[in-house]
Amino acid sequence: ALITPVSLTEHRTLPHALLAVARDTGDIAWVEDDVHPSALQDALARHGLGAEDVDVVELKLGEFLMPGFIDTHIHAPQVPNIGSGQQYELLDWLDHVTFPMEARFADADFARRTYTSVIKRTIDYGSTTCCYYGTLHLDGTAALADVIHAYGQRAFVGKCNMDRNSPDYYVESSADASIAATHALIAHIRALPPPPGGAEPLVRPILTPRFAISCSHELLGKLGKLAEADPALHIQTHISENAGEIAFTRELFPPDSLPAPPKPLPMVNGIDGVKGKSGGGTYAGVYDAFGMLRENTVLAHAVHLDEEEVRIIKARGAGISHCPTSNFNLRSGCARVGMLLDHGIKVGRGSFPAYAPFLLRPLVLQVSLGTDVSGGFSPSILAAMQHASMCSKVVAMQSPHPPPNTRFTDRQLPIATLLYLATQGGADVCDMRDRVGSLAPGKAFDALVVSVRSDAGNPATWGVDMDLELGVRDGGKSAAVELENFLERFLFCGDDRNIRRVYVQGRLIGGKEHRA
Ligand code: GUN
Ligand code: FE
Repeated sequence: ALITPVSLTEHRTLPHALLAVARDTGDIAWVEDDVHPSALQDALARHGLGAEDVDVVELKLGEFLMPGFIDTHIHAPQVPNIGSGQQYELLDWLDHVTFPMEARFADADFARRTYTSVIKRTIDYGSTTCCYYGTLHLDGTAALADVIHAYGQRAFVGKCNMDRNSPDYYVESSADASIAATHALIAHIRALPPPPGGAEPLVRPILTPRFAISCSHELLGKLGKLAEADPALHIQTHISENAGEIAFTRELFPPDSLPAPPKPLPMVNGIDGVKGKSGGGTYAGVYDAFGMLRENTVLAHAVHLDEEEVRIIKARGAGISHCPTSNFNLRSGCARVGMLLDHGIKVGRGSFPAYAPFLLRPLVLQVSLGTDVSGGFSPSILAAMQHASMCSKVVAMQSPHPPPNTRFTDRQLPIATLLYLATQGGADVCDMRDRVGSLAPGKAFDALVVSVRSDAGNPATWGVDMDLELGVRDGGKSAAVELENFLERFLFCGDDRNIRRVYVQGRLIGGKEHRA
């Protein structure tokens, strides 16, 4: 059985699929629907293969294949703090809980040992790609990249840039020192050997200005120059998470203190970014002024964005990491994800004037999920999906009359949307939409074997057990409906016990069976 996202509103459930992975590259060669075990040889023959050419892995009833999760926002050094500090809001939480822990990663040996257990766990929870924040330390964050590389997970790794508004014991000495360490980390990561088969590197560097508050104008200016000189370099930061944070950001970056953005804003939906307001005085406007918003930028949280900011982010093609577990836990707020998704959909449908040639590239506001450990108390993208669902229901209850002519705004997110955000949405936001995020030919085989069989030992299996007890193996349902039910059970009641095998680029790197 195979499940894969198609769009924000559609996914495929194939109870009898056959998927081929090329041994040399680890990419998906082809997928066939409706191949029953008795017809296996015929299906292989259609692709010029005999039984001796392949290793066949057959899944049992109650198991299915799906794309790996993409966690677009996680702090690896905060994993030891998971489940503590929930009494604080963001800025106090950073001071009392987070910075003291991160400072310990000055010890590269401590960093290596800690990261070794952290990465094993994120893999076993089904995250085949993660966007990791390290600490401000070069050596510790290089160790993080080494550990990820050794395990074979796909990842972006950045060291935090922070040269002000941080404690004396955990701050960089100058903007230049921060930039030098950033260059060194990028060089270290790019020197890691790619996996066999000539595939692209799995671990890649990402610029990580922690958030505007922790960066001087000088540092953001220099990071902007670095980014401009290296367009392939990804960028990640936090945006508009918490009311106190937003107020402090505005105080630190008054509009007249900002440079003009390196490129003028393109026109979106008939609103000219050049003639319109340039975002001065907004949080997004600060990042835009320093050239931090572009197609390979990942913005975490985006809880309190105003319309102007949504317009700027969309115009730049940057993506959002929705982190609902953290947003509940640190009382940051409920992001209006449905509204953000409608911005994507509307634009994606082509509401542009046809005469504007530069608009041929569809500008969509892209959204994904992040665990934001340890602002979020779970390393599991399943928890992020559950909380994204609850967050959308809170928004829907607070706004019982969704605006007409919208699809997602103020409505609860359906299963297909949750699945998309956790997989293909992450691939979109990471600018890897053609490589990962779904089980489609030509993409890397980054996948999970999920089981809701009773030996998983958690509530995801209970309905299946009960059907068995009642002697109605599938509850009388068709195979496709049964598979839908398995998916929903897994998404809402599942955890790492249901994740049997985790593959990245065709290689088995984790999961319950791998651990055993
Ligand atoms: N803003 C700046 N640093 C952090 C962090 O570590 N976690 C979260 N959630 N927000 C931040
Ligand atoms: Fe964060």
